[in-house]
Amino acid sequence: MRRFFQSILLLSLAWLFPIHAFQTRSEQARTSARKTIPVQIPVGISESLWRRRIPKNNPLSVEKIALGRALYFDKRLSIDGTVSCATCHDPALAFTDAKVVAVGRGDRRGTRNAPTILNVAFNEIFFWDGRASSLEDQVKHPLLSSFEMGMTNEKELTARLSTIPEYQRQFKRVFKSEDLTIDTIANAIAAYERTVLSGNSPFDRFIMGQTTALTEAQKRGWTLFKGKAKCIECHTYSLQNPFFTDFKFHNTGVAVADTALDELVRTFEKSSKDTSGTVLAHAAGFSELGRFAVTLQRVDIGAFKTPMLRDLELTSPYMHDGSIKTLIDVVQFYNRGGNANRYLDERIQPLRLADTEINDLVEFLRALTSDDVLRQCQTMRPQTRTTVPRTNLSSPMKN
Ligand code: HEC
Ligand code: HEC
Repeated sequence: MRRFFQSILLLSLAWLFPIHAFQTRSEQARTSARKTIPVQIPVGISESLWRRRIPKNNPLSVEKIALGRALYFDKRLSIDGTVSCATCHDPALAFTDAKVVAVGRGDRRGTRNAPTILNVAFNEIFFWDGRASSLEDQVKHPLLSSFEMGMTNEKELTARLSTIPEYQRQFKRVFKSEDLTIDTIANAIAAYERTVLSGNSPFDRFIMGQTTALTEAQKRGWTLFKGKAKCIECHTYSLQNPFFTDFKFHNTGVAVADTALDELVRTFEKSSKDTSGTVLAHAAGFSELGRFAVTLQRVDIGAFKTPMLRDLELTSPYMHDGSIKTLIDVVQFYNRGGNANRYLDERIQPLRLADTEINDLVEFLRALTSDDVLRQCQTMRPQTRTTVPRTNLSSPMKN
């Protein structure tokens, strides 16, 4: 209740001050309410929502976040010293890589588009096909993936990090008597990821009551999003889930663009007799099966996780395969009813939107860009792939 009145008070101040003054005051109020956490919770995300996403067995601390951050940007975590998490989830590119599909160490091409890690703390299931169930579990996949960071086993990774004095000290400080293992590495990186947040977009300020935060076109777009265009049926929005996803899997037809799904299913079923589905799920060729390769349920054929929709202006190209380049093209894709196939979600149907309505929807999606993330993209330098010299793979490195 007090929070409610606080926001009313701040909103009334907003009429007296220019917009940036309003933000600063609101942020100050939020910061002072949270002495213990070194994290700025942006407008649009409630602090209690964020707190609930921090698991009891991996609590946050200033030191753990700092260690996780160092690991996240450290190319020594890859076999040849060319790739860190930030290579593919680069803060200068809204935590993506701006590529169609990710490119790992040794220029190995993956099969899927690298999603942003902004707000990944709120994800309930990870990867486009949901094959990881927690952030801690997720982290281990790229570390040990032959195409991404390329360490062939856990020992190789922990052995390398253990020889670096700064990590020895930091792990001891954060994890006390626990050893430096893949689990403590994952816990630290996950802790850092939970601080990578996005809110404070014009839309968030509109929802907070600042009616002028959206243009008229954006307001019409929001009405279409909830109504005629039916986007909200999968890209759910509420104050309790302000991320525009239902965390479920749907076939929208993206996967059938150049794949015959039924044939792929048959080949997959033959091969999966000897190999586990999850191993095959990400293998070249089978990627388009999506969720099916994880659950083996036919309803999941060609189904992918509904992505969050914030900061889209900064995260092109779109979809699990990076096949759509612009937001206009995305909306046109939905307007024509996706790509027909036997497993298409029944909610995907031709929308009969007029060109002006398509523009309004795109304008609305633009209103979901965070001011803070945009500023970061404009000021940070992109990551490079310059190799850490072999002799330095085990010695201190400046990020
Ligand atoms: C070579 C590029 C590459 C590197 C390096 C990489 N990732 Fe990713 N990441 C991807 C791709 C591609 C996906 C999507 C794969 C899929 O869904 O099948 C992904 C997915 C994710 C997700 C899931 C997001 C979601 O919405 O489900 C998280 C979290 C993540 N990566 C974090 C990390 C972390 C932490 C590291 C470092 C330990 C890392 N990534 C290293 C390319 C990369
Ligand atoms: C049936 C559920 C469903 C409906 C309805 C729906 N989407 Fe999606 N949306 C998805 C799924 C699933 C994906 C990922 C598909 C893939 O990559 O194969 C997606 C992807 C997207 C993306 C790409 C985001 C990214 O980061 O790659 C955008 C943008 C998007 N949808 C916007 C919309 C808009 C706008 C509408 C309304 C016109 C809409 N969606 C309707 C489920 C849906």
